[in-house]
Amino acid sequence: MAGISTDPMAGRTVLVTGGTGGIGKATATGLAAMGARVGITGRDIARTRAATADVAAASGNPVVDPFPADMSSQAGVRRLAGEVLAAYPRLDVLVNNAGAFWATRRVTADGLEHTFAVNHLAPFLLTALLLDRLKASARARIVTMASGAHATGKIDFGDLQGERRYSGQRAYSPSKLANILFTYELARRLAGTGVTATVLHPGVARTGFAAENPPPMWKVFLPLIRPFLKTPDQGAATSIYLACSPDVEGVTGTYFAGCKPKTSSPSSYDTAAAARLWQISLDLVAPTASV
Ligand SMILES: NC(=O)c1ccc[n+]([C@@H]2O[C@H](COP(=O)([O-])OP(=O)(O)OC[C@H]3O[C@@H](n4cnc5c(N)ncnc54)[C@H](OP(=O)(O)O)[C@@H]3O)[C@@H](O)[C@H]2O)c1
Repeated sequence: MAGISTDPMAGRTVLVTGGTGGIGKATATGLAAMGARVGITGRDIARTRAATADVAAASGNPVVDPFPADMSSQAGVRRLAGEVLAAYPRLDVLVNNAGAFWATRRVTADGLEHTFAVNHLAPFLLTALLLDRLKASARARIVTMASGAHATGKIDFGDLQGERRYSGQRAYSPSKLANILFTYELARRLAGTGVTATVLHPGVARTGFAAENPPPMWKVFLPLIRPFLKTPDQGAATSIYLACSPDVEGVTGTYFAGCKPKTSSPSSYDTAAAARLWQISLDLVAPTASV
């Protein structure tokens, strides 16, 4: 029918964090190709702008916006949220994708362990700051990237910042379990608002994952398994599905892999742990935001 777009995401606005490479860039490209206005984030201005141009060219959709932000700092997340709210009168989908694995312990500008800060606290704070806009845009969706690695994670409430013991895996797996606990708690809190929250494992994909600060043996091990890994496009399939498919309209509080609902680890269903993590996260961001 002339004049009416048949693009399934036409008129929708999506923010994908960590859209400069890997799964996030492929997710942004897929959603832009379906007609969405897409914003992407990344730490470096030049890299974020270059990725924006790549996503626009690959998708054939010129409406792609760069939001440079270092999400390891709460000030960075707050600035990002302010810019997104100023630029987007509506926000239909938030894809909390940015995250990584760091082999050595580092501390952020806020004095927090870096993996916990980027992988869990940043999406927690960003979601809180964008929540009113998402609610006003309902039916909106919040899609958060976890990992199958969550299954080996345990939240050590006595050492959340990895001060007593740290390894990349010891920090990464719990941060991904935190993504699931966060999503399930968020879904409970959003019941009746028209905003859904889902969480996913993308499969193991060939991206820049862990490249910045790789674990020992990574350089030996990675080339051996690399040919068997998913492409970034394949890794983005479940994020794209959760962001746009009518099949999951209204579906909330659910973990997905391979575009199918899956059972996550037993500890991810611990509602007391989810509520405790929520309160601790709130306390950690409260000095910089009222959420
Ligand atoms: N690849 C896999 O097999 C796999 C499996 C399970 C889960 N995941 C998850 O998938 C997500 C995407 O990972 P990927 O594999 O696509 O890795 P990637 O290629 O390294 O992409 C990571 C993205 O996150 C951004 N990022 C990292 N630190 C950031 C920070 N402090 N502030 C803002 N943005 C930041 C990066 O942007 P800049 O570097 O430009 O700042 C980049 O766009 C992660 O959450 C990861 O845990 C991946």
